[in-house]
Amino acid sequence: MASTRADIGIIGGSGFYSFLPGGSRVEVETPFGAPSAPITLGEMGGRRVAFLPRHGERHQFAPHRVNYRANLWALKALGVSRVLSACAVGSLQPSLQPGTFVVPDQVVDRTYRPGHTVWEADGPVVHVPFADPYCPATREVFLTAEGGQAPLIDGGTMVVINGPRFSSRAESQWHAAAGWSVVGMTGMPEASIARELALCYATVCCVTDMDAGAEGEAGVRAGDVKAVFASNIGRLKRLLERAVTVEPAQACECAHAVDGLPLPFPLPTVGD
Ligand code: ADE
Repeated sequence: MASTRADIGIIGGSGFYSFLPGGSRVEVETPFGAPSAPITLGEMGGRRVAFLPRHGERHQFAPHRVNYRANLWALKALGVSRVLSACAVGSLQPSLQPGTFVVPDQVVDRTYRPGHTVWEADGPVVHVPFADPYCPATREVFLTAEGGQAPLIDGGTMVVINGPRFSSRAESQWHAAAGWSVVGMTGMPEASIARELALCYATVCCVTDMDAGAEGEAGVRAGDVKAVFASNIGRLKRLLERAVTVEPAQACECAHAVDGLPLPFPLPTVGD
């Protein structure tokens, strides 16, 4: 039987529904229900990789309906230790034009959704550290993988709105005035749940539009987001193909994020 283990997980965003051609598919159940889709498992550059389309294979889950807990739990249960996530974002700064890739180093969470934490049941209270929301070694993986072929912006703050609507002009101007770089709908709670599960996690954002507050912009339309993402999906996939082969030079603390905390139930181990 083919192995159902993987080392690296990839979460694809809007317009990114397949990866790992010829891979096998596995259905994973979790205490939080089913993930967005069966997970595709395959080998790439000598690494075992698991791919999951965040919005489902038919884009049936809007950002506020994605089961972030099940998605990350399922990857963890397959043995994944590093998650490379991809998402579409709007730009809040004129220097970040559509087609730019950004690897943020900070996040502002403006979502209000259920399913925000895996530690929701009665029991001991679990507070994970989140001052630095992204794994520095995984950010380095993206930056190293760039290789001059897909220029990446190193750092910046992603503000995550609840969706599914886009921001009003006033909200967008407020986000821009705060100095934040990009705005998306799926970066949270994905990043914080990854930390709760002691996963290494970072995200690469593809700028698809200038958000409503950017100077002279008419406002965002979903069709434009889709079209710009589609024209960059090849670059994004090539970046991820290189990223899975990169061994970061630096160490990180992500695997120890919940060490010593009073967990009400254990994290999944391979085979759960
Ligand atoms: N995803 C892509 N563009 C976006 C925008 N302008 N706002 C929120 N999420 C987005």
